[in-house]
Amino acid sequence: MSSIHPDSIKNIHKLSIAPMMDCTDKHFRMIMRKISSEALLYSEMIVAQSLFHTDKKGKFLDFNNEEHPISIQFGGDDPEILKEAAKMAEDWGYDEINFNVGCPSPKVCSGNFGASLMKNPEKVAKCIESLKNNCSLPVTIKHRIGVDNDDSFTKLNKFVRYISNAGADRFIVHARKAILKGLNPKQNRTIPPLQYDVVKKLKKLNPELLIEINGGFKNINESLNALNDVDGVMIGRSAYKHPLRWSEIDQKIYGINTKTKSASDIIFSLIPYIEGHLSNGGKSWDICKHLINLVEGIPKAKIWRTQISDKSIRKELDIKFLLKATTRLQDMGY
Ligand SMILES: Cc1cc2nc3c(=O)[nH]c(=O)nc-3n(C[C@H](O)[C@H](O)[C@H](O)COP(=O)(O)O)c2cc1C
Repeated sequence: MSSIHPDSIKNIHKLSIAPMMDCTDKHFRMIMRKISSEALLYSEMIVAQSLFHTDKKGKFLDFNNEEHPISIQFGGDDPEILKEAAKMAEDWGYDEINFNVGCPSPKVCSGNFGASLMKNPEKVAKCIESLKNNCSLPVTIKHRIGVDNDDSFTKLNKFVRYISNAGADRFIVHARKAILKGLNPKQNRTIPPLQYDVVKKLKKLNPELLIEINGGFKNINESLNALNDVDGVMIGRSAYKHPLRWSEIDQKIYGINTKTKSASDIIFSLIPYIEGHLSNGGKSWDICKHLINLVEGIPKAKIWRTQISDKSIRKELDIKFLLKATTRLQDMGY
């Protein structure tokens, strides 16, 4: 990895939390930020066309100051619209832009973007150039190792080099191919086999490029292992469903000497944020639907989660109740 250009070092993120629609909203990102001060956080995918046409830009773009470093992910295929999206991302204060060509959703691919775009590297290059030329942020790309029968290593290697020449600063490679006909998005995250070796080989052959691996990582030790061969690891479902499994990111991945946080530490630290959300008319469920995943694998975890969910869904959860419930967790040593 010594051949990485010195200017690129700043773009290395050893660990990141993946973009996930309906999951990685600003509330979940705040929870992850309390868990790790270092991991790069991604927005959900924002369709550039929708952003361009809406009057409510803040609904798509707003985030909390504490969330930095944060990458905004765009989907799209129109360089002119992506140009405007890039400017907005920079004006709004994002740290980098990610372009998504890994999403196999039929809705997304029918608009000829997402994973189907990987079949059209010239178009992808134009999109990357447009993002890059219209802001000063790093521009990265998230893609698969192949799509349908376009799945040879030669093609992948060519794609990555070509897109690097277009200006991409980092490659996040979901280590499975996408099958556009016959599999739904969920099946496309489980059925095509993970091929970590392909991503490792890509890095080996392109030591000057920043290459990150994604797909199926379940704990910090697995991630540390992968970091021997690639520049970064992106975590999706495991971070969403089991956030506390990742409570030692800062210590083990980034070597920072800090206390490991418990579930109650994290919830207590979020209280001012939750208070602010509620006093601005926000619903407690907006946050609690993510927060309950923090409590698992301990006695009475299910009861705790059910109590919080029920109260929250019935719009009866207030800070006093949450504090009391969290103190109970703390008293049990969690
Ligand atoms: C609910 C859900 C929503 C997702 N939404 C996006 C998205 O908006 N953009 C994207 O690039 N990938 C999306 N993904 C894919 C993830 O970013 C990631 O590539 C995939 O889940 C594999 O990583 P994992 O095995 O660590 O979960 C989504 C995945 C899930 C489970």
